[in-house]
Amino acid sequence: MTSERRLVAIYPGSFDPLTNGHLDLIARGCRLADHLIVAILKNTQKQPLFSVDERIQMIREAASDFANAEVDSFEGLLVDYAARRGANVILRGIRAISDYETELQMALINRRMRPETETIFLMSGEEYSFISSRMIKEIIMLKGDVSSFVPPSVAQRLRAKKVN
Ligand code: PNS
Repeated sequence: MTSERRLVAIYPGSFDPLTNGHLDLIARGCRLADHLIVAILKNTQKQPLFSVDERIQMIREAASDFANAEVDSFEGLLVDYAARRGANVILRGIRAISDYETELQMALINRRMRPETETIFLMSGEEYSFISSRMIKEIIMLKGDVSSFVPPSVAQRLRAKKVN
């Protein structure tokens, strides 16, 4: 029996900035899904380091090898965006048990609001399990070297930001 069903997955996040851990998850997502939409939240309540356009650009550069990946941004509820895009899966990465509580809560809320969309958790590669965007920003602010934590194009843009 053949199935026509396509797995369209959304990988949502702030990606401020994209890290090697995020990129690892994009690679895993692209192997799993027919089409992966990396979706950046336009969050008006947070002052980001990079604009949404800069983040889109950075992810496109870093993920250019993945033919079935697309980069987009969204406002409002994730489940509404998933419905508009015809996505049946939300992908989220789990680095450590400390991520689980918030992720579980988010997944259950999203499932209650839109039962057709399942959240799938993927374990990030263990070599990336300690990396977070928040720490990257802190290291950059303290003038440290982030080149082993983020893709080269992101490291370059971080240096160009001259955060002080
Ligand atoms: O990278 P982040 O900041 O952990 O990503 C969080 C994100 C963007 C996935 C989450 O905040 C989100 O989905 N926001 C959209 C608003 C929404 O749908 N909220 C209800 C579910 S918590």
